Amino acid sequence: MTTIETDDTAGAVPDGEPRRVNLDFSPSGKSARVPAGVTVFDAASWNGIAIDSTCGGHGTCKKCKVQIVKGDVAISRLDIRALTPEQLKDGWRLACIAAASMDLEVEVPPLTTRPKAATVGVGRQVILRPAIQKRHLQMEEPTLHDQRTDIERIRDGIDDLEVTVEASVLSAMSKTLRSAFWDVTAIVVDDALIGVEAGDTTGTSYGIAFDLGTTTVVATLMDITTGTPVAVRSMLNKQQPFGADVISRISATMLDPEGLPRLQELAQATLAELVSEVCEEAGVDPLHVYEVALAGNATMVQLLLGIDPEPLGVAPFILATRNYPGLKARDFGLSIHPEARAVALPALGAYVGGDIIAGALASGMDRDKRLRVFIDVGTNCEIVIADGDRIMATAAPAGPAFEAASIRNGMRAAPGAIETVSIKDSGMEVGVIGDVAPVGLCGSGLVDAVAELVRVGLIDSSGRFASDEHIAANRPDLAQRFVETNGERHFHLATEAETGSDPVVLTQRDIRELQFAKAAISTGWRLLLEEFGVPETDVQQVLLAGSFGTYLSPSSAIRIGLVPKLPVLRIVSAGNVAGEGAKMVLLSLPERHGAESLIDEIHYVELSDRADFNDRFVEELAFPQPK
Ligand code: FES
Repeated sequence: MTTIETDDTAGAVPDGEPRRVNLDFSPSGKSARVPAGVTVFDAASWNGIAIDSTCGGHGTCKKCKVQIVKGDVAISRLDIRALTPEQLKDGWRLACIAAASMDLEVEVPPLTTRPKAATVGVGRQVILRPAIQKRHLQMEEPTLHDQRTDIERIRDGIDDLEVTVEASVLSAMSKTLRSAFWDVTAIVVDDALIGVEAGDTTGTSYGIAFDLGTTTVVATLMDITTGTPVAVRSMLNKQQPFGADVISRISATMLDPEGLPRLQELAQATLAELVSEVCEEAGVDPLHVYEVALAGNATMVQLLLGIDPEPLGVAPFILATRNYPGLKARDFGLSIHPEARAVALPALGAYVGGDIIAGALASGMDRDKRLRVFIDVGTNCEIVIADGDRIMATAAPAGPAFEAASIRNGMRAAPGAIETVSIKDSGMEVGVIGDVAPVGLCGSGLVDAVAELVRVGLIDSSGRFASDEHIAANRPDLAQRFVETNGERHFHLATEAETGSDPVVLTQRDIRELQFAKAAISTGWRLLLEEFGVPETDVQQVLLAGSFGTYLSPSSAIRIGLVPKLPVLRIVSAGNVAGEGAKMVLLSLPERHGAESLIDEIHYVELSDRADFNDRFVEELAFPQPK
């Protein structure tokens, strides 16, 4: 029986345990399994099925008519306005307000216009439904007989969007309308009219996606009309002098009253410099950038907005907010279009921030039916496990080994860093970034070096270097690389002769640091898999993300036990997924809704207070020995 509801989202599910419903779409034959309460429009978009729309799912264009052929969606007030009584009786509904609260079969009519799509994230096809919309309007001049206001005239020209306007927009707008003789392009972001431009500028529309990392910040200038990136720049976060990780940045704000404003200023200066660089590289006027999207961990986002991060750093680790509605680009200190909007990806908790939500979105963690593990490897390592039905996350404090901060010759992945190590029968080979002599060791080089030394039996399962006798008997060619200095044994990855100056060494303590980091991470995914109730061998894909995870050799990661022991092809580098998630929310409102619904769907598991956590951590310190 069909029910009639009076609010605008029909069939919304009451609060409670998130559950999933199945939607079968015809004629495409595609199905989607989505959280109950998601609209038919979003469910279709997330699965690459296009439904007609010019409003991007705002309930104003009335173009997204679909027929519910099995199951029921309550009739809303907007349905009654848009559809005839016969259509309503036959199951027709507006897809963007039809919330799926049960399994449905949905017939999607042929498209009247073909929407564009872009490939973003880990092979995700995103249908372009950006929040930014431009409409060219050629309006009648006001007369004594036509006394409509400026805003009424614009609203009449774009009646498929119900726009709001703030007073700050009006003065420039009224001037432009008259100087352009009423031939203008209206710029709408979400449902806000943010300005008008003289003439037809509908082909010019840009947004910027930021990945605001603790170490590195990346900006991608996106052409919103085509969904393609036109310029990408990255730079070190200018907050670096205040420490390498989030804890040291939080401490800086606690120790000095000037710390917070200073860190905010530095974060804003980093983004502002990147904006200038990408716009200059692409020859784009910053005034044509109408929206920015930002993925960052909770501390970075709060610092950027000048919000005290102390509660994030001390138990019980509380966020100021999960979502930041109504942000403007000027809140990030950016000088682009004066009314440009800003979106910060929502955070789940103090240690599962918007960067991880962006990564989960970009890698389709909530939509892929395979059992997958997503690991963002860094000082704080976030782990997400999903199988298309359930999604769980946890955070593991891995410490600074991967950033190479606590490693004797550790350095960032920059020219001179040893990034790969392989030991062959004929000797050892190292790969160095740039065409220069080695000067240090970055995170991926550290993992490779230890994995290779474990493989050839020169590091035992407890992490100790083999004895001189063992080395002399088994790998005499490498014996001279083992050197004892000040009572500590070192392995020379690059000797003085090879560097032309100081050697690059791997110390016993470096190995210990890596063991702590890998044990924290593997305890994390092992316990999370147990919570999930599945064995390690069932995992169909491991995605390694983050600036470190991306460069990690999958076989070395398996060898030291950092990731589940699986065929190497199942371990995949996911790339800069946080930045990809930010691009997706710029290009698609349904994907933006997807990021928000992830917050409700992900079940956060706190592992550190488990009684067996410490015992399990100690067990994980050992390196698996080669057979
Ligand atoms: Fe425009 Fe539904 S009314 S997409």
